[in-house]
Amino acid sequence: MAILSIPNLDIQMTDPKQIRDFMNQRGIFFDQWHCPVEFDDTASTQEILDAYDADLDPFMKKGGYLTADVISINALTENYAAIRAKFLAEHTHSEDEIRFFVDGKGLFWFHLDEEEVFNLLCERGDLISVPAGTKHWFDAGETNPFVKAIRIFIDMSGWVPNYTESGKETEFIDFNFPNRG
Ligand code: LAC
Ligand code: NI
Repeated sequence: MAILSIPNLDIQMTDPKQIRDFMNQRGIFFDQWHCPVEFDDTASTQEILDAYDADLDPFMKKGGYLTADVISINALTENYAAIRAKFLAEHTHSEDEIRFFVDGKGLFWFHLDEEEVFNLLCERGDLISVPAGTKHWFDAGETNPFVKAIRIFIDMSGWVPNYTESGKETEFIDFNFPNRG
């Protein structure tokens, strides 16, 4: 269940409908899919994709997306510091960045023009689509990262991060993952 924060305005939202409205008004698609299964570490990409087929298939057909895979990051991931650094700098992509969180958590940060920076803590069941060209960055935390997410795309080349070099992310480096309540 997602949590939306606007650090500079001291605002936090936990109501899914409110979060969806906030995101959709800004052209960012946000939804929640029911999680039918809990997976252990041995689950294959195909098992995970199959479990979500009822949601995934219509979503992909409607959006014209062609491929999906599963990304898994955890405490055993090698070179995590380098992987983290790659997404922790503000960037854009030439196609939509779509992630469905099967398990774990991560913070998506958004830097829209004329707006305070906000972030969305994505957790199990959360689906987000960051439109092409939107300035964003992502963090799964400095230590003990855990992300199991379905990635949906048209062409993998659309994922190359185009760095903005704004340095905006450095203003928020001390922000901690929010807790509910
Ligand atoms: C990416 C993220 C996580 O580009 O922003 O894959
Ligand atoms: Ni990205």
